[in-house]
Order: sequence, then structure tokens, then C-alpha cells
Amino acid sequence: PAEKAELKERIKRLLKEKQAVLVAHYYVDADLQDLAEETGGCVSDSLEMARFGRDHPAKTLVVAGVRFMGETSKILNPNKTVLMPDLDATCSLDLGCPADEFAAFCDAHPDRTVVVYANTSAAVKARADWMVTSSIGLKIVEHLHAQGKKILWAPDRHLGSYIQKQTGADMLMWQGSCIVHDEFKGIELELLRKEHPNAKVLVHPESPEAVVAQADVVGSTSQLIAATQVPDANEFIVATDNGILHKMKMAAPGKIFIEAPTAGNSATCKSCAHCPWMAMNSLQNLADVLETGRNEIHVDPEIGRKAYTCIDRMLTFAA
Ligand code: 13P
Ligand code: SF4
Repeated sequence: PAEKAELKERIKRLLKEKQAVLVAHYYVDADLQDLAEETGGCVSDSLEMARFGRDHPAKTLVVAGVRFMGETSKILNPNKTVLMPDLDATCSLDLGCPADEFAAFCDAHPDRTVVVYANTSAAVKARADWMVTSSIGLKIVEHLHAQGKKILWAPDRHLGSYIQKQTGADMLMWQGSCIVHDEFKGIELELLRKEHPNAKVLVHPESPEAVVAQADVVGSTSQLIAATQVPDANEFIVATDNGILHKMKMAAPGKIFIEAPTAGNSATCKSCAHCPWMAMNSLQNLADVLETGRNEIHVDPEIGRKAYTCIDRMLTFAA
């Protein structure tokens, strides 16, 4: 604990010295989330991380999350320095959608509006018409569907089919998935709900259909945290990365939070309910990158310019 306190003090000093701000996701280590808030940074979902980094005057953004979040920050802020505690922190959705294969998929369907999830590389975004996050994907597809557009969607098939069902839009889908949310199981969730009949079920839409179907609330991480505030519920079953429980417990003290069941447990299943890439962010490597300036995110300027358009479109729509 003494070491931890020292590290935190060191990080606070370095953030000031380097005129840097910490932008963190709800799935990273609780200490990092707290530090972001204590130092005037932010902890939030992907949409708000992008917006916060764009609007903050700091010269350096330190993004505690996964690679696509750092890349999105860099694309929106080509003149700021964007650092990440670990550049190898990626995402199974990003890994499962290589830019060249994705381009071929788009080439084969030139009549479709290309909508990609934030959890993709800069090169994939450069090929898209729209980028969306889980908090706003439904509204954007609804908007495009109302204009009669046919959609090519990538890469998360669960989020895609959830949106497809809700909107009735014509969506051709890439078949990617999140290794963490893919582990939540519908039948086990049904059994757990019987044991906790008063619990509200909060589900991230990267979860499989059988899990989403049992949700009281489906939403982004920020939307799920907001859902804990309802006055008539004291117990929640949570189907998303368990890093979120830290904020939920702070936001709704005294309420009960139960992790939704996964196929295995932490001894047998590495990705069960906690993202192995989000877990690569630590106080130690955060302090180190601030000290050394290592782990800077670079995006090819041409790709960055192209990708900017689809991200900016989403932020304008969200405003
Ligand atoms: P949110 O945008 O809902 O925070 O989701 C990001 C993510 O990677 C979920 O797995
Ligand atoms: Fe990607 Fe899933 Fe990790 Fe989110 S939780 S960063 S979608 S692998």
C-alpha cells in the first residue's frame, strides 16, 4: 500500500509537469479510474472518452484503455501527444477485423452505408461512413434506416443483431465478437434470475442474444452505471466486464451487484468477465510512460484524416 500511494503521488506530479490528462475506461484497474477522477481527467464509456479528449486543452492525453481508444483520441487530436500505458492492449473485435479483408468486404457491397463500431483499427475506420459506439449505435442506425439506407455493419455480430432487431434495418454483418461478453450464458442467467427475482438485469449489447433477451436495461458502460440509480431497484445482475463494478458500487452505495454467469470461472477461463487487454493498464506502466514519454500512439496522417470523418460524424450527431 505504501508503494501504491507513492506511485499515485508520482503520477499526479507527472500529470501536472507534463500538462497531461488521464482518460480512463470503466474496465481498467479501480486505482486508475479513481486517479483519473481525482486529477481532473475522466472515466467513462468510449463515446465520452473521445469527446472528453477532444475538448480538453491538455497537450498530452494519457489513455488508459485499449488501443482503439488511443487511436480514436489521436485521430481527433492530431496535434496532441497521446500516450498509452501498454500499446499491446488490443481488443478481440479489432483483431478479428483486419483492414484488408474488411476493405474487400466493403468493395463487394458498394451499395451499402458502412457503419463500424469504435472497437476497430484506424484503417478500418478510414473505410467507413460512420463510426458508432455502443451508446449511440442504435440511434444512428435508426436514423440511417429512416433514410432508406442499407447497412454494412462491422465487426460485433451481437451488437449488430441487437441493433438490427430493434430497428428493422437491412444490415449485412461482419462476424466478430468480444471474448469477454461472448462468455455470458443465457441458461445460467435464467437460473440466477430465479434465485434473485427482484434483481434488474443490466447487459452490455456485446453479449449474446440469449443474454440480451433477458435484460431490463441494454446499454453502454455509462448507460448501465446510470441504470443503477433507479430508486425502485436495489439488486442488479451485471453482464459486462466486472471492472465496472467499482463505479457501480460507488454510484449506488448499499445496493447489491451480482456478476452474470459465464461458462467457466476465473481459474479455467482467462477472459471470463474481465478483459485481459484492459487489465494490461497498471499504475506502474502509467507512471513509466509519463516519465519517459514512451508508448506514444501514432496514426498514419492520411488514414487519420479519412478516419476523422466517420468519427466526427458520430460526435456531431451525438451533440
Ligand atoms: P463502452 O463504449 O460501452 O464503454 O464499451 C467499450 C467496450 O470495449 C466494451 O467492451
Ligand atoms: Fe474488446 Fe471485449 Fe475487451 Fe471491450 S471487453 S476491449 S470489446 S475485448
